[in-house]
Amino acid sequence: MGITGSSEEIYDVVGIGFGPSNLALAIALEEHGASDPQNPVTSHFFERQPEFGWHRNMLLPSTTMQISFLKDLATYRDPMSRFSFISYLHASNRLVQFVNNQDFFPTRQEFHQYLEWAAAGVSDRVSYGTEVTSIRPVTENGAATFDLLEIEVRGSDGTSRMVTTRNVVISTGLVPRLPEGVASDERVWHSSEFLSKFNSRNPEDLKNVMVVGAGQSAAEITRFLYDTLPHAQVSAVIPSYGYSIADDTPFANQIFDPDAVDDYYFGTQQSRDAFWRYHRNTNYGVVDSDVIRALHQRSYDEQVRGSQRLHFRNLSRVDEVKQAGSRTRVVLRSLLDDKTEELSVDALVFATGYDSPDPARLLGDFDQHFRRDAAGKHRVERDYRLISASELSCGVYLQGGTEHSHGLTSALLSNIAIRGGEIADSIMIRRTERELDRASSVGVAP
Ligand code: FDA
Repeated sequence: MGITGSSEEIYDVVGIGFGPSNLALAIALEEHGASDPQNPVTSHFFERQPEFGWHRNMLLPSTTMQISFLKDLATYRDPMSRFSFISYLHASNRLVQFVNNQDFFPTRQEFHQYLEWAAAGVSDRVSYGTEVTSIRPVTENGAATFDLLEIEVRGSDGTSRMVTTRNVVISTGLVPRLPEGVASDERVWHSSEFLSKFNSRNPEDLKNVMVVGAGQSAAEITRFLYDTLPHAQVSAVIPSYGYSIADDTPFANQIFDPDAVDDYYFGTQQSRDAFWRYHRNTNYGVVDSDVIRALHQRSYDEQVRGSQRLHFRNLSRVDEVKQAGSRTRVVLRSLLDDKTEELSVDALVFATGYDSPDPARLLGDFDQHFRRDAAGKHRVERDYRLISASELSCGVYLQGGTEHSHGLTSALLSNIAIRGGEIADSIMIRRTERELDRASSVGVAP
């Protein structure tokens, strides 16, 4: 389990996590290398999953993307990129039929195939089955140099090695959130593990299933369970009176535009608050209208037939989850009259969202060099680089976890093509500036 030493190469950038965000960055770097082969930026990415995967456990049949296919990994940065969704369709011999289909929003399964196809195009830059466990500055004679970073990478066999880089881009996604005191097990699942847990059970044993939450994943899972388990009672526990619609109308959708990042970043606290106050319903705790209508249609059809197995428990919350032998019991509290009710379930799915992980988890002691705002969040430059208290020539960049500084697109796909390009540019520009500084200090041309 020991550390087996460091590789010789010093990378310009190491990416932690290889979801869509760092995939978009890898593509931006690849395309820079193609356009400027004299000055390639060396990079490598580490991904803990054994192969590329984007929310695999939520690839439910018929679920669709919540962004246009044109907000892919590259098009907004470079419409001529060979990594665009249109290139993928062309390579898959489906471009013509996609156009005939007249739909801006592909299924998540198709978008996943696109992401896998793009990831395969940069596979020489990625190590799968490897988890980054820490980031720290390289030390010389016991003192930190702050020019280079040492990344500790653990392989699937448990052995660790060190990798050296000038910059690191942390893009580790979100962490599933369960209510306090609730732990996931064979019958209690978070939506992020839905399909693997569902597939591990015999459908015949799932006679009473319950889904908790009022957002997109909750509604999609409720619909899936109802359609897949025709013998089951399906309950949806929602804290509101009913599902609320996701606003994806054109003016509201502008908050996901690349320019909106500047408006948010350079805006006043009041304007930032307005983004959240007026536009939270574009993404948080809301559901696409087609899914809402599909669920209501099923419920109405039951009323026409006079038989009910789809139960909406609105204005309700889960108070407690108890294990009783081979059963799980759930205590529900109604917000209407504060009364509680205890029910037995064969599966309980919490579609209760995600939290942003604090980069301090990876940075350890090194984190003390980075500035935080009054709310305790990291201060981040416009180019997504963490702001340090003292001058560091190595860079730590964030993709994700920057809602407080860069706004609503931080954890979404809408802006990943542009953001990946901005981070790639920042790394190249800062590298050139360092080389010029070094050259002028020794009096030679770079
Ligand atoms: P993402 O979470 O995808 O990837 C992070 C990667 O880092 C993971 O592969 C993880 O294994 C890896 N990792 C974590 N820690 C690591 C470590 N220490 N070492 C190595 N690897 C590590 N947004 C949108 O705009 N439109 C949409 O339609 C949707 N749809 C959607 C559906 C569902 C079901 C969910 C849950 C979310 C969405 N989203 C979305 C939002 C979603 O956050 C977004 O689609 C991307 O997943 C963001 O990509 P990232 O690469 O930032 O994170």
